[in-house]
Formats: sequence, structure tokens, C-alpha cells
Amino acid sequence: MLFRNRFLLLLALAALLAFVSLSLQFFHLIPVSTPKNGMSSKSRKRIMPDPVTEPPVTDPVYEALLYCNIPSVAERSMEGHAPHHFKLVSVHVFIRHGDRYPLYVIPKTKRPEIDCTLVANRKPYHPKLEAFVSHMSKGSGASFESPLNSLPLYPNHPLCEMGELTQTGVVQHLQNGQLLRDIYLKKHKLLPNDWSADQLYLETTGKSRTLQSGLALLYGFLPDFDWKKIYFRHQPSALFCSGSCYCPVRNQYLEKEQRRQYLLRLKNSQLEKTYGEMAKIVDVPTKQLRAANPIDSMLCHFCHNVSFPCTRNGCVDMEHFKVIKTHQIEDERERREKKLYLGYSVLGAHPILNQTIGRMQRATEGRKQELFALYSAHDVTLSPVLSALGLSEARFPRFAARLIFELWQDREKPSEHSVRILYNGVDVTFHTSFCQDHHKRSPKPMCPLENLVRFVKRDMFVALGGSGTNYYDACHREEF
Ligand SMILES: *[C@@H]1O[C@H](CO)[C@@H](O)[C@H](O)[C@H]1NC(C)=O
Ligand SMILES: *[C@@H]1O[C@H](CO)[C@@H](O)[C@H](O)[C@H]1NC(C)=O
Repeated sequence: MLFRNRFLLLLALAALLAFVSLSLQFFHLIPVSTPKNGMSSKSRKRIMPDPVTEPPVTDPVYEALLYCNIPSVAERSMEGHAPHHFKLVSVHVFIRHGDRYPLYVIPKTKRPEIDCTLVANRKPYHPKLEAFVSHMSKGSGASFESPLNSLPLYPNHPLCEMGELTQTGVVQHLQNGQLLRDIYLKKHKLLPNDWSADQLYLETTGKSRTLQSGLALLYGFLPDFDWKKIYFRHQPSALFCSGSCYCPVRNQYLEKEQRRQYLLRLKNSQLEKTYGEMAKIVDVPTKQLRAANPIDSMLCHFCHNVSFPCTRNGCVDMEHFKVIKTHQIEDERERREKKLYLGYSVLGAHPILNQTIGRMQRATEGRKQELFALYSAHDVTLSPVLSALGLSEARFPRFAARLIFELWQDREKPSEHSVRILYNGVDVTFHTSFCQDHHKRSPKPMCPLENLVRFVKRDMFVALGGSGTNYYDACHREEF
């Protein structure tokens, strides 16, 4: 009992520390029931703006920096935190690919000169970088489902190609892998020393940046990266919906969400003015500039500390960047309020969540396969999953974001299994809609697996407000 109290105290302390340092990175708002943390009310206000009484103070430059996720010192993370009598059963990891070159060019400007080869004496660096390159160059086609075997296994262009993973992106995932290895393999012994191929489940979309991100993470994670034990499945859909992608109502939600986005943009005269100015600078019609999605390219300039492009008419500058980035933040805020994206997300994320609980349930039955699942994906994968889980305050997935589901067994009550959900190292289990109130009733620092199962099988569809309580009905609802 004493031990448990001490554990809870430690947990509370760790949670407090993580809260102070990570809340800035994650939630605009973390409800804290008793403010015994000694912070002055002023500083508390700054860290946790109350969205009801004051608009969140969002600094576009600060937000952009978080999005870049520039590798620095080892971060604090809450993965793998559990009382001693809990045993880690399986881990399910969803990642966004690391830092990449833009997908679009700003018309009539020189594209940023970024080197996508991997070089040891260039920042950011990781001690495993060279070994990673040499190991990847021995890669074997047998490790990949077609058409993945036609993709390069690491970035290698002196001038990045569009969408190519950068050295920063590789380092971000080597770091993720190493962090997860220290926690899940060294500390919790998730895999036996003689682990085999079927204990991993690996899946990626068909882009080089997702495959390479997955490989970098695995290379940091696995104690011996044996090509014979690696098999990446190919996922054609960014929603990871496999055989269940057909869902007409989901598309209707998406259309309405896009309409909302469009109307919000029209209302923002400062944004329209900014696009107009930038269009003048690069000498194309405003419409064409907007269609080229300049923020994607500007973020690359920003994250790589490369100055924004200039022409003889002038320069794209930080003020333009701030206006567009601020609008993005506004857009995310309205997106949460209007709930259309939630509808899209519930239907978009159901198949992958359903697959995940299936994998968890098999593990609870003692199956020793697929103990570590890795889905190497995109912002458009993680974002709906976060939203469907009710993590609406979560920030838009930064480069190399990670969302993790941990499955635990209580050794004192072996029939009981629990889950923890972590986003970028922050424990968000009790922010999910399926476990929001649980910690008020139970002293356990995690959520019963049944809560998640019930949510995915049925309750998540309640958010849609229709009568459908399963995926098929919700996807084919007539009255929508
Ligand atoms: C960004 O670049 C400028 C010069 O172009 C340099 O002075 C500055 O130190 C750089 N910042 C970082 C963080 O690398
Ligand atoms: C959910 O998963 C189960 C197996 O675990 C499968 O039989 C069912 O078809 C899945 N449903 C959907 C909508 O993906």
C-alpha cells in the first residue's frame, strides 16, 4: 500500500513536471482540478488559457516552431509509465513522417536549396545516422510489399525532390525509435531477445517519406535490424482504411468541411490582402498563388532557416508568413467548433481503430504476434484519429509526430487489461472521450480496454448524432 502511494505520488510529480514542460507543446487547455502547483495565477493563465473566457493567445511563430519539431536535446516523455504490477502487452505506434521538402512550389520563385543527402557533419546529426545509411544501402526487396520495393530506402538527392524526407526528418525518427527502444525494449522487454518477424506489424503508405520514416524509427528501435525479419505492408489509403474505405457519408462531411474552410477564408480580409501582396511579388494571379498552397513551402523556409523568396518586385516576408499561419490556427479553432471535421474523422478513423482493438484483443488472448505495430503515415492520418478519439485540443500533427496506444495487463488481476494513449510523449488517456471521467472514479492510472472497445464498436458513432451505431449504417445514412 505504501509502495502504491509512493508510486502515485511519483506519478503525480512526474505528471506535474510533464505538464509544466509539455503543456506548452500540446494542449492549450489542460484541466487541473486543484491548482497546488505553486504557479502564480498569472503564469497559469498564460499556460492554460480558458477558451470560454479568453481567446487562446497563439503566437504563430511559436506554433510554427513546434510544428518544425527541430531535433534538440532528449525530450521528456510519459511512454511506458505504469505501476510495477503492470505488464506491457503490446504497443501500437502511429507516426507522421519526419521533416520533408515542400509538396508545392511558390510559382516563379527559386525553390529552397535544401540538401536531402545524409551527411554526418551537417546538423541535425544523430550518432546512428551513418550506420543507418550503410544498413539501408544493403536493404532487400523481400522486405516490402509491392510497390514499396521500388522506393529508395533513404533520402539521397543533393537538391531535395518534392516531398522528399530531409536529414532532419531521418534524425527525428531515429530519435523517436531510440526513445521507444529505451522504454519498451530495455525497460519493459516488450520483445524477447530472439524476436521474430511476426512479432512486428509494419505498414506504410506508398510514399518514400513514410517508408523512410518508418525505417529510421525501426532502425533506432530494434536492437538488431535484420532485413530478414522486416516486412512492410503497403497501405494505399492515407486513412489506413484497408478494405473498408467506401463510406459516402464521410465524403459528405468532408465536402461540408471544405465549404466551411472556404467561407472562413473569404471572411479574412487580411489574409486576402496578404495573398494579393504575395501574388504581386511573384507576379501571378492571386488565385494561382493561393492554389499553390504557399504556406507549405514557407514552412520549409522557416523550419530550415532559409530566407523567404524574393523577386525584383520585393520579398515574401515574415509578416506574410504570420498572417497565413495565424489563419491556419483560426481555421483549426473553428474546425473544432463546427464539428463537421469530427464527423469526417469518426468515419475516417474507425477502420484503423477497429483494426487496432482487434490486434489488442488478440494479444489479451495470449497471442504472441504483432506485439509492436507501426503505421507510418501522414498528418491526414493522425489528425482524424486524434479528433475521433476526442482529443480535439491536440495540436495539428507536427513533423515526426507520434501517437501511441499501449496495452497493459494487471499482474494482480490478469484478466484485466488497460490502455494508455500518448501523443508526442504526453499522456492524453484521460482526455479521450472514452475515458474522460474514468480517473475520477478509479485510482488506476490507465483506462480499461473495454472502454476503448465499446467506444470503437459503438459509442464513437453517437458523436454523429444519427441513429447509426455501427460503421456501415453511419456511412450510408440517408437523412444526412
Ligand atoms: C539563421 O540564419 C541566419 C543567417 O541567415 C543566422 O544568423 C542564424 O544564426 C540562423 N539561425 C539558426 C537557428 O540557425
Ligand atoms: C472490425 O474488425 C473486425 C475484426 O477484428 C472485422 O471482422 C470487422 O469487419 C471490422 N469492421 C470494420 C468496419 O472495419
